[in-house]
Amino acid sequence: MFGGVYKNRRVLVTGHTGFKGSWLCKWLEILGAEVAGYSLAPLTNPNHFELSNLKVKSYIHDIRDYNQIKKVMFDFKPELVFHLAAQPTVLVSYENPLDTYSTNVMGSANLLEAIRHTSSVKSVVLVTTDKVYKNNEWNYGYRENDELGGHDPYSTSKVCVELVTESYRESFSNTSRDVPLIASARAGNVVGGGDWTKDRIIKDAVMAAAQEERLLIRNPNNSRPWQHVLEPLSGYLLLGQNLYQRNFDASGSWNFGPALDSNLTVLDLIKMIGEEWDKVDWEIDVDPEAKHEAGCLMIDSTKASKELNWKPIWDIKQTVYHTIEWYRRYLENNLVVTNEQIRRYLHEGKENNSIWAK
Ligand SMILES: NC(=O)c1ccc[n+]([C@@H]2O[C@H](COP(=O)([O-])OP(=O)(O)OC[C@H]3O[C@@H](n4cnc5c(N)ncnc54)[C@H](O)[C@@H]3O)[C@@H](O)[C@H]2O)c1
Repeated sequence: MFGGVYKNRRVLVTGHTGFKGSWLCKWLEILGAEVAGYSLAPLTNPNHFELSNLKVKSYIHDIRDYNQIKKVMFDFKPELVFHLAAQPTVLVSYENPLDTYSTNVMGSANLLEAIRHTSSVKSVVLVTTDKVYKNNEWNYGYRENDELGGHDPYSTSKVCVELVTESYRESFSNTSRDVPLIASARAGNVVGGGDWTKDRIIKDAVMAAAQEERLLIRNPNNSRPWQHVLEPLSGYLLLGQNLYQRNFDASGSWNFGPALDSNLTVLDLIKMIGEEWDKVDWEIDVDPEAKHEAGCLMIDSTKASKELNWKPIWDIKQTVYHTIEWYRRYLENNLVVTNEQIRRYLHEGKENNSIWAK
C-alpha cells in the first residue's frame, strides 16, 4: 500500500494522543512505519490513544515550545511528518482564543522552523480544516482556490496556519530540490470511534444513549460534510507518499472531503444514528444566545480526485455504521475494534481499486 513508502520509514505525528492522530498512528503501525508522536498528554479519560495500545515513541511536550520540538527532530530524525496537534474546536476557541492562536499558529510555525533545520525530513503534511474557507453559506463545495477567511478564532487560526505554510513553502521549500515538500490538507467533519472530545455530535449521542438520557441538539439545521476518520487519513497518507516521492505538484493545498451526498444536517445525521442504535434519543433545544457557527459547510475534492486519484470509500451510511459499531462494542463488550475496522477499510480499498491500496 502507498507504494510501500511507509515501510520502515521514520514518521513523526504531532497530535498522536488525539482522536485523528491515534488512528493515523495505528494505520502507520500496520504499514510497518517506525512512528514517533509529539503532543500533550491525552485530554480525556477514556481516550483512543491509550485504548489502541500504540507502539509509538511518545514525546509529551507542548508544540509551543520551539526548543523541545527542535530537540525531538534532532533526536528522532523523521523522514515524513504529519502535523495534527491543535486546539481543534470552534466553541473552545471562543472560550480560549489566545490558546487557540498560540497552539495552532505558533505551534505550526515552530514545527516548520524545526523542520527547516532537520535534513532528514522529505515530506510534510499540515492538517487544517474545511473551516478555512470564507463561508458564504453556498450549497455547493468550496475549492482549494476559493477565498480563505473566517469568523471564529478556530477558523481564523487555521487560515493563519495556511498562510504560514504557504510562506514556508514559497520561501524555503520549492527553491531547492533537497528540502522537504510541504502540503496542507483540509477535511470535513470527521467522525469515528474513540473520540471523546467535548461537543462532538456522535460521541454526545452515544454517551447520552448509554446513560439513557436524551441528547439536546443545539443546531439541528446546520449542515456538515461528515466523513469517517479513515477517509481523510487515506488522503493524508497518499499526500505524504506523493511528497516523499518528489511529486512537486503535490506540494500545495488539498481538500479531502466526502461525496457530496454525505452532507447532512445535524438532525438528519441524528436520525440515521437512531436507525443504527434505537437507544439514541434526542430533543431539539436551540440556544438563541449560542455563539456563531457556520450554517452550511461543504468541500469539493475534485482536485484530489483528478490529480491524486483519491476517492472516498465509505458513504454516510457506512460512516455512521462503523462509528456506532465502535462505540457499542466498546460500551457493551469493552472491546476496541480499531484494528479490525482499519483492516476492513483496507480490504474495501483494494476491492475499490483505490490508488493507495497498491
Ligand atoms: N475532528 C474533526 O472533525 C476535524 C476536522 C477537520 C480538521 N481537524 C483537525 O485535525 C487535527 C486533529 O484533530 P482531532 O479531532 O484529532 O483533535 P484532538 O483534540 O482529538 O487532538 C488534538 C491533539 O493535539 C494535541 N495538542 C493540543 N494542544 C497542543 C499543544 N499545545 N502542544 C502539543 N500538542 C497539543 C493534543 O494533545 C492532541 O494529541 C486538528 O488539527 C484539527 O484542527 C479535525
